[in-house]
Amino acid sequence: MAVTVRSFAKINLGLAIGPSRPDGYHALETIYQTVAAHDVVRIEASRGNGIEIRCKNPQVPCDETNTCYRVADRMLRHWKQRAKLVITIEKNLPVQGGLGAGSSNAVATMFALERELKEPLPPDERLRICAEVGSDLPLFLLGGCVLGLGRGEQVYPLADLPTLACVLVSPAVAVSTPQAFRDWDAFMESEAAAWNLTPPSGSVTLSKFNRSAFEWLSYLDVSGVPAECGGDRAETPLLDLVRAGIENDFERVVFPQYPELRDVKRVLEREGADYASLSGSGSTMFGLYRTRERAVQAAEQMSAEGLAVTVTETLPRSQYRAQRFAK
Ligand code: C5P
Repeated sequence: MAVTVRSFAKINLGLAIGPSRPDGYHALETIYQTVAAHDVVRIEASRGNGIEIRCKNPQVPCDETNTCYRVADRMLRHWKQRAKLVITIEKNLPVQGGLGAGSSNAVATMFALERELKEPLPPDERLRICAEVGSDLPLFLLGGCVLGLGRGEQVYPLADLPTLACVLVSPAVAVSTPQAFRDWDAFMESEAAAWNLTPPSGSVTLSKFNRSAFEWLSYLDVSGVPAECGGDRAETPLLDLVRAGIENDFERVVFPQYPELRDVKRVLEREGADYASLSGSGSTMFGLYRTRERAVQAAEQMSAEGLAVTVTETLPRSQYRAQRFAK
């Protein structure tokens, strides 16, 4: 029997890049939020050996570099088990779009394979495999609103926000994440040179983010908006998010290279988004809206202007779990 799993996307409600580390990664602080837009991953196991990836999108590699392959392979090794696996990925989300689609596909594979082989992994083994395959995988073990630390792979569930309407705009530009990190390093060095300083360690951006995130989470705590309440009450955390000044550091290096992305942010704001930002290193931009009606209206306008838009909503943890397995 095949198992089918919805592989939800994420956005970053803010992201601060810290110092580069001896292992080549950068310290990171971010708030991830899952959204309802998703790919679909299907897995079928039979007797035999080998992992076959099927995907109609030519941008998705179907060899052992595919994140789904890497996770499945590690799971079989952990169990010391042989099986013939066929993993089919139905792509709706952009590839290299900053929505964590490839990482989410891999975690969907993990959920599906556990169910297909009726063998759950211990939680620490799940995390170990996910963190090994990529920094953006572990957040999808939790879903909802998630704090990401370390290189992004240390994840902690945050209190969920009420469901917020969200418009995703995916320009036809693929931003390479490693390149964006390198650009960030060059940017920090040039900033230091301009001020005649030694290059900053990057901890300045982290502590600023830390303060903003703390401020935002404190507002949420005070307003006490439960995740089940959408509608008018969605306004409070959104305004608080803006008030706390949470930002995505990648905008500072990605926008100068792809000015069309800055323009998209302006369009989102012009069309009434309460909060608009680049997701991850891009190129997808998102706007959060108080109501679905406002989001749909904005999306129609942007679509008429030739932008590739998707209307979706944020997905709290309980729904992430409940909607994961497709019937
Ligand atoms: O972890 P992941 O494989 O997704 O990272 C891809 C690349 O992005 C890394 O090889 C590294 O160059 C860069 N990266 C980074 N700092 C992070 C996460 C990723 O420099 N926190």
